[in-house]
Amino acid sequence: MANKSFICKKSDVQPGSLLSVEVEGEELVVYEIEGEYRAIHGVCPHKGHPLAEAHFDGCMIICPFHFWKFDAVSNAGLWPQYAPSLKAYPIIADGADLYIELSS
Ligand code: FES
Repeated sequence: MANKSFICKKSDVQPGSLLSVEVEGEELVVYEIEGEYRAIHGVCPHKGHPLAEAHFDGCMIICPFHFWKFDAVSNAGLWPQYAPSLKAYPIIADGADLYIELSS
């Protein structure tokens, strides 16, 4: 069963930056591209470092620890070739607030 959970206000997400939030024990990173809000699992699939510390240029998310690269729109792994996609969560915008649905 899906559970709608508040993650943050839209105004908490600064353009060009990654916001770390914890929702029901899940580490997430929230960001915005051209007015569209996105949420991904906040842990790098390589060695588990926090993606909130990653470099974000509006197109790519680059983990600073070993420089794995991910597409910020599709969430696909870009480098190295075998990098997996980042786990993404659909965001529900409701007025000034952002929510996600986590399966329970
Ligand atoms: S932990 Fe992210 S690239 Fe190694």
